[in-house]
Amino acid sequence: MQRLMDETHRDPNAAEQEPKRVFVKSYGCQMNVYDAQRMTDALDARGYRETADVGSADLVILNTCHIREKASEKIFSELGKLKLMKAAALTEGRSVQIVVAGCVAQAEGGEIIKRQAAVDLVIGSQNYHRLPELLDRARGAGPVVDTEFPVESKFDHLPTPSAARMAARGVSAFVTVQEGCDKFCSFCVVPYTRGAETCRPVSAVIDEVKSLISSGISEITLIGQNVNAYHGLDAQGRDVSLAKLIDHVGKVPGISRIRYTTSHPRDMSDDLIEAHRDVPSLMPYLHLPVQSGADRILAAMNRKHTSADYIRLIEKIRRARPDISFSSDFIVGFPGETDQDFQATMQLVAEVQFASAYSFKYSPRPGTPAAVLVDQVGEDVKAHRLAQLQQLLDQQRHAFDKASVGKTLPVLFEKPGRHPGQQVGKTPYLQAVYVTEASNLIGKVVDVAILEAMSNSLRGAVSSSQLGGASN
Ligand code: SAH
Ligand code: SF4
Ligand code: F3S
Repeated sequence: MQRLMDETHRDPNAAEQEPKRVFVKSYGCQMNVYDAQRMTDALDARGYRETADVGSADLVILNTCHIREKASEKIFSELGKLKLMKAAALTEGRSVQIVVAGCVAQAEGGEIIKRQAAVDLVIGSQNYHRLPELLDRARGAGPVVDTEFPVESKFDHLPTPSAARMAARGVSAFVTVQEGCDKFCSFCVVPYTRGAETCRPVSAVIDEVKSLISSGISEITLIGQNVNAYHGLDAQGRDVSLAKLIDHVGKVPGISRIRYTTSHPRDMSDDLIEAHRDVPSLMPYLHLPVQSGADRILAAMNRKHTSADYIRLIEKIRRARPDISFSSDFIVGFPGETDQDFQATMQLVAEVQFASAYSFKYSPRPGTPAAVLVDQVGEDVKAHRLAQLQQLLDQQRHAFDKASVGKTLPVLFEKPGRHPGQQVGKTPYLQAVYVTEASNLIGKVVDVAILEAMSNSLRGAVSSSQLGGASN
């Protein structure tokens, strides 16, 4: 069925026409990165080639993020610049189409065109399979807005990319397995911008993983806004958990590494914890956002777990996989957060010891329950707390990196480094490592002796015995 779709999506005249060029800029999370690839896959089948040069593009897509105000507002200044570019191209007789995709598109819809008339198409994240058709429509009839949540799944209609396009993804690729969120944390726009939780069936995920692996990819990261809430159907029509899906993915021949992100503490089920013990290719690294260490704030955030629940969970996972390391997300200055609440967050961080983390100042988002709470925290207080938290998290990250010095770690090499002869890869704990090495290591997992922890990466050396035996 998928094959048939591919054929019908392919424009028979595409090969003879001068290829059009598409430039995509993605903001926000990994799902936007993945979505951008699927959009350019769909356009590739219509004769569009991707370009990194916005000035030469016939089509510009801003794949937007609505999570915080700054991310969202940035889009309008970008659109201002694109409007000028579009007008200049027109004087040369070249027409440029501008598309706003992603979560701002979903949240603001037609308002975007009211604010910036140069936009040709506003497309919500569930409608990407309609992109080529909507571009045609916008060319004829003027600006188009499509942010309806369709009945059909985009995944059933998006074309399978060519082997060359898959191979171009490099060494590591994302695969969406779950999308949307039913959790409704009181600060978050995702349940509104991505809609209700949906899961792809096991066979669709496995087929995509197999194609990626056979195009030379070594590492697969299964992604979802709430990935560990995954429950997809298998070939027998049974509901399958993320743990079981990981087990299936781990059996795909040639796969080196599996990761998954982002998880919610409440969905960290026992079978998933056991998978960290039992599936050798599942990496010992887990991004597990906690947001706050204060129970009062966690309750107001609608997280439905306490700080003690989180710490117990971390301990349980560490018992199953002692070398696992953790990262997390934090929000400071949620409405009503007192100094004491903030200290509870600092205490939780001190207790867990994270290998890395992301932290943000609370940003009130229109339409979310927390945005209308009266006890908003001042910007200066937020900034001060964020600086304190980031200092502690940075110390922990550096301590974790320093503890790697003297160890030998398996590194999956991804790309050449900035300096001649350098190659860069990742440890199982997602630390960037660079080595200076003549033979090509890209795509291989090689044991590397860690020599030094720099501010954002590790320096290592490959032992000569490794080079003879390096393999996937
Ligand atoms: N689905 C993921 C993350 C979604 S957004 C999860 O549940 O963890 C990524 C991170 O952005 C969140 O974990 C949170 O820390 C942050 N975030 C979300 N809404 C925010 C807001 N209104 N203000 C500041 N940070 C926010
Ligand atoms: Fe947002 Fe919460 Fe859902 Fe994560 S779990 S996407 S933070 S509502
Ligand atoms: Fe942003 Fe949407 Fe991802 S709001 S974080 S791009 S799900």
